[in-house]
Amino acid sequence: MNNVIITGSARGLGYEMVKVFRRSGFSVVLSDIHEEKLQEAQESLAKETGNGKVLAKTCNVTSLEELEALWNYGTEELGEIDLWINNAGVNQPMVPLWELKKEEIDLLIDIDLRGAMYGCKTAISHMKEQGHGLVYCIEGFGADDATQLGLTAYGSSKKGVQYMVRGLAKELSKTNTPVQVGRLNPGIMITNFITHPLGKDGAMELSESTKKVYNILGDYPDVVADFLVKGMIANITKKKQDDYVAWLTKGKAAWRFLTAGFNKRDFFKNS
Ligand SMILES: NC(=O)c1ccc[n+]([C@@H]2O[C@H](COP(=O)([O-])OP(=O)(O)OC[C@H]3O[C@@H](n4cnc5c(N)ncnc54)[C@H](O)[C@@H]3O)[C@@H](O)[C@H]2O)c1
Repeated sequence: MNNVIITGSARGLGYEMVKVFRRSGFSVVLSDIHEEKLQEAQESLAKETGNGKVLAKTCNVTSLEELEALWNYGTEELGEIDLWINNAGVNQPMVPLWELKKEEIDLLIDIDLRGAMYGCKTAISHMKEQGHGLVYCIEGFGADDATQLGLTAYGSSKKGVQYMVRGLAKELSKTNTPVQVGRLNPGIMITNFITHPLGKDGAMELSESTKKVYNILGDYPDVVADFLVKGMIANITKKKQDDYVAWLTKGKAAWRFLTAGFNKRDFFKNS
């Protein structure tokens, strides 16, 4: 049995990961805060080639009760859950920290850090009872200690997520708990995330220098999802603690910059 729950999977990386899991024979529980988008995603995924079931349940990751209900729904429908991915996340408005409103800081930390922490707490406590399971979280800018104007709150949350997973790996191995945790590094993806801070409507205009970097380092989420899902599936049998599946390694990034002159990608030509 191969069953997976992915938070924030109505679009972007989460949605693309669902497709790859289904092609690999997994049944998937999609979930997202947006009920309507979730239904649309479920309907369009049902038309895709794939062996496993596609189920859907709304869940706001800032609520421990809703995460608990998501786990219960998954196990009632599918039996056991082998993999849980804390994928839901939002970007910040590209301004210095002191210019962010209190509500913006609270929302970002609630979703990107507290949401991942609640997700780990929920999945690990149930997987412990179940006797097995893998839990992955998504890293992002800041996890590698990079700093940049306009990304301090987001970077702090992703550094926090990285620390949490590494800490959990230690706690799980020291307590002989039969659950493994891991981290995914998706690099830069051309999704709603990069132009819609805090998931709000109304696209943010990207500067020409930002677009240039995204054209060199960025990828569409389907390409990244394929790589990350294969890495996670490999770890179902390996059971490596603090597994790290990295799409955009330092070496790959350096190669992209070196070869940028030969690679005329333009993700933004129609925007
Ligand atoms: N796009 C990038 O360049 C990039 C780079 C590094 C890391 N990431 C990380 O990858 C993950 C996925 O990002 P994406 O690019 O696919 O973004 P996206 O905006 O396309 O998708 C994120 C999904 O999360 C959902 N979501 C937002 N708040 C939620 C909440 N409170 N509860 C449940 N669902 C919620 C959204 O509705 C959306 O469907 C995030 O954790 C993000 O931080 C993205």
